[in-house]
Amino acid sequence: MQNSQLSPEFLPKHIAVIMDGNGRWAKAQGKPRVFGHKNGVAAVRRTISGAAKLGIKAVTLFAFSSENWRRPEDEVGVLMELFITVLSTEVKKLHKNNLRLRVIGDKTRFNERLQKKIAQAEALTVDNTGMVINIAANYGGKWDILEATKQIAEKVALGQLSTNDISEELITEHLTMADLPEVDLLIRTSGECRISNFMLWQLAYAEMYFTPIYWPEFTEESLIEAVTWFINRERRFGCTGEQVKALMES
Ligand code: IPE
Ligand code: IPE
Ligand code: MG
Repeated sequence: MQNSQLSPEFLPKHIAVIMDGNGRWAKAQGKPRVFGHKNGVAAVRRTISGAAKLGIKAVTLFAFSSENWRRPEDEVGVLMELFITVLSTEVKKLHKNNLRLRVIGDKTRFNERLQKKIAQAEALTVDNTGMVINIAANYGGKWDILEATKQIAEKVALGQLSTNDISEELITEHLTMADLPEVDLLIRTSGECRISNFMLWQLAYAEMYFTPIYWPEFTEESLIEAVTWFINRERRFGCTGEQVKALMES
């Protein structure tokens, strides 16, 4: 096994990431929390390029939770500005690499400028056939299920569906990301071992990988480590990080 080629079919198809620990990373260096958020952007880039090189189908990154509005106003403000800047600078590169970008969450609470940037980025990359990158922003797993429930209730009220038609499959179809493979690997950085209202329904069978490193420290190597761990858990046979890495180079 050691030197043989790893089959790409063993890779996770959909990786979800809770990018946590920006604030603590900054604090450990005596810097303000927002310094951590700014440095987190490079880790996002590394994760996207690493996953794309591996041939992963979809990556969903938790950037801002529906609970994160409770943070101090100036931190929220910096995060919103950072989204706008990053969308402006990165989207062309994603497009050039045939990647598709989508923002998942309740976008109505964002300011007009940000909503416009999001719509432009999504429209530019909509026909791309490479990896799908979902940015979960103002997203909550409970919100996702609530919205699906409302849509289904509306259809029942209109007589388009009957109560007996409601099945797990039907609920799945009404959730965000219904068109993507189920999440098979969840990664959370910073040592916290909880879901923090990220995808709930979609994580039903995901393998969960918790690493103590803070998000700004997350590298391509960290991604390889997580994927190697996943393959060794899920497939009940051993593979090495080198074999996963070889897939990136092939
Ligand atoms: C994750 O880092 C980024 C966001 C939630 C936007 P945190 O800001 O949660 O950093 P810690 O957990 O306080 O260290
Ligand atoms: C979860 O991290 C949300 C994001 C990474 C965007 P938090 O740091 O906000 O979660 P809690 O508050 O520790 O549960
Ligand atoms: Mg946190």
